[in-house]
Amino acid sequence: MRALITGITGQDGAYLARLLTDYGYEVFGAYRRGASPRTERLAYLNVSPEMVPFELGEYENVKRTIDHIKPDEIYNLAAQSFVADSFELPTYTCDVNGMGVLRILEAIRGKDIRLYQASTSEMFGNATPRQSETTPFIPRSPYGCGKLLAHSLCRNYRESYGVQVSCGILFNHESPLRGKEFVTQKIAYGVWDEHLRLGNLEAKRDWGHARDYVKAMWLMLQHQPDDFVVATGTAHSVKDFLTAAKQESGTEPVVTIDPKFYRPAEVNHLCGDATKAREILGWEPTTTFRDLVGEMVREAGKCSGYFWDSIDGKLPRIKSVITA
Ligand code: NAP
Ligand code: GDD
Repeated sequence: MRALITGITGQDGAYLARLLTDYGYEVFGAYRRGASPRTERLAYLNVSPEMVPFELGEYENVKRTIDHIKPDEIYNLAAQSFVADSFELPTYTCDVNGMGVLRILEAIRGKDIRLYQASTSEMFGNATPRQSETTPFIPRSPYGCGKLLAHSLCRNYRESYGVQVSCGILFNHESPLRGKEFVTQKIAYGVWDEHLRLGNLEAKRDWGHARDYVKAMWLMLQHQPDDFVVATGTAHSVKDFLTAAKQESGTEPVVTIDPKFYRPAEVNHLCGDATKAREILGWEPTTTFRDLVGEMVREAGKCSGYFWDSIDGKLPRIKSVITA
């Protein structure tokens, strides 16, 4: 089996590449053309996919790359994934996150290729928890709006043309490979410092482990195309995360609330109902909130800088498959 993963250099890309490699797949990792791919997360998990330059904004390039690789499965994980930045970069965010998948859908229409689309709980906005596949979408950020466009296009191509696309409506998932701008990783590193500046401590999120969530992505593509919520079903506030992280580190940093980390519109409470994923896919989360916090804080405590400053292993090789 051949899989193409867009967003291979991100948190989920690395965990998914590890999983698919372990399952015997030939894994191709798409990284954005023009940028030097950051392979540190892949190195951390000791996985070496074939790396392919890929421009999600350019239809011909998307089509040519897919035609050349001939994957059985495509996982579209590439995105401008930081919600806060989407208020500063709304056009760019909606193009990459919303229109990006349309180019893939057009390229695979009529072909026997299964597609996973990385949808998100951010599409629910402030809809009442617990949110499920039948909860209305009321996004509160350009990020959520762009992702909802992608989600709608996937459903439309499934219904109109029989494209085999599944959308995972994933709630927040974290790991030691999380980007340092996200609140969990900011706290995991911040508790080892003297000062920590944060925004809204009252927001609640349903936090799981990325390792568990990429398994759900794979499971979706082994079943009939559909949409699935993936979540633990338990929410904690940012304040709860901070408290648990301080207990893990045994430190007491000075925490300052800085309004610059508030968002123009906040999503207050996300907590998912993953009954459908459990019943149809047989998926269950395996990592508790305390275990997640513990792993992130301990890993952060081992590093002097961000995790990839301390990676001294051999980085995965880069192989350009398409040179056009
Ligand atoms: P991440 O760590 O931020 O990774 C994002 C990936 O997208 C990186 O490989 C990044 O490449 C790539 N990318 C960014 N801008 C791009 C562009 N313009 N063109 C092509 N590639 C681009 O995100 P993640 O946490 O792994 O999340 C994976 C996917 O799931 C994303 O689509 C995210 O929106 C979605 N999602 C995440 C969560 C979560 O809690 N983690 C929940 C729901 C949905 P560079 O390394 O070059 O920047
Ligand atoms: N980043 C950040 N930094 N968030 C903070 C801070 C801070 O200093 N202080 C408080 N928060 C609050 C945010 O306001 C938000 O309510 C919550 O912490 C979580 O913020 P993030 O960790 O940035 O994640 P997110 O929930 O906005 O988005 C993540 O989850 C989505 C799924 O619900 C991202 O991974 C998205 O890509 C993903 O789709």
